[in-house]
Amino acid sequence: MTKRIVVLPGDGIGTEVTTEARQLLVEIAALLGVQWELDEGLIGGGAYDQTGSPLPEETVAKCLEADAVLLGAVGGPQWDNLPGDVRPEAGLLGIRKRLNVFANLRPIRTWPGLMLASPLKPELLEGVDMIIVRELTGGLYFGQPKARVEGGRAVVDTLYYTRGEIERVVRRAFTLAQARRKKLTSVDKANVLESSRMWREVVNELSVEYPDVVVDHVLVDNAAMQLVTRPNSFDVIVTENMFGDILSDEAAILTGSIGMLPSASIGGDGPGLYEPVHGSAPDIAGQGVANPLATFLSVAMMLRHSLGYPEAADAIEASVLAVIEQGVRTRDLAGSGQAWVGTKEMSQLVRAD
Ligand code: NAI
Ligand code: MG
Repeated sequence: MTKRIVVLPGDGIGTEVTTEARQLLVEIAALLGVQWELDEGLIGGGAYDQTGSPLPEETVAKCLEADAVLLGAVGGPQWDNLPGDVRPEAGLLGIRKRLNVFANLRPIRTWPGLMLASPLKPELLEGVDMIIVRELTGGLYFGQPKARVEGGRAVVDTLYYTRGEIERVVRRAFTLAQARRKKLTSVDKANVLESSRMWREVVNELSVEYPDVVVDHVLVDNAAMQLVTRPNSFDVIVTENMFGDILSDEAAILTGSIGMLPSASIGGDGPGLYEPVHGSAPDIAGQGVANPLATFLSVAMMLRHSLGYPEAADAIEASVLAVIEQGVRTRDLAGSGQAWVGTKEMSQLVRAD
């Protein structure tokens, strides 16, 4: 069956890195002997300029009919003064919500040869290979009420979860752990928060169904320390929305460059949404120097989680590793005085491998 993939390039370097990723997808299809139906849609500041909306309905409709969506990045200083509901970022939050992608997966690993780019000592970084599963559509960021109260003298945010919302994301994490090193760390604040006590209950209940997975509960403040003191002890981490937001940025520094970090947002019935973690990088947009590897690794996640080609995903990751090991660097990865290549050349070298 032909799989439908929608590419949403967005703004800035988003268009540069997705152009290369599209080429990668075409070549993968040829290798696999399959055909994708590749389509493109508008999102972000460019979409606003052309249609008056950062997320045109036409884009949403295309995405809802797809098997997977690849997004570049949105935003840029020329749109910074727009009202909140038409800013480029509204397009990003909008598409996540419309696709109901409740589990955000961020793999964090270190690459041999790139560890010097990280502020942490190389010996701590040896063998780091974890995936953070962040609940993406509930919790503190969405709970109601969320308001100024008592005439502005007080304020309330609400951390609200249904048991079902916790269960579905924790299940995803258990399944991922089963396919990896079978270790699940659930991060909460159960010594203080009632929501965390329910989170912990759900994890313990579900653990009976996954007897091969070793479960560990860690309080979020302790988890923040362990991420930098013994990062290689983690396999799969699952946590609620805000804890995951903070911990995944903390863990991102282990890798060395934001240009190497992919992500997947997956959910129930609709397509998965795949995107590099970085933004539109207006400071380097249009120069042909953006690192395309975060987007290539996002394509690998798409092949693994939405398209059903895990071997092709492994092959992309192996090619990225091989090219890095050969010493090829984009500018963001190069040390001072080290030679580097542009977006297109890096893309060609990985695709040729
Ligand atoms: P950014 O991630 O765009 O850039 C941060 C720094 O990293 C810059 O110096 C940039 O040159 C560098 N960088 C990022 N990706 C790179 C790559 N692939 N290769 C080489 N260098 C790379 O974050 P920033 O500057 O805070 O935001 C810029 C714009 O992007 C803003 O409008 C922001 O709202 C938007 N943004 C969008 C995101 C998305 O679409 N998912 C995520 C984060 C920011
Ligand atoms: Mg964040």
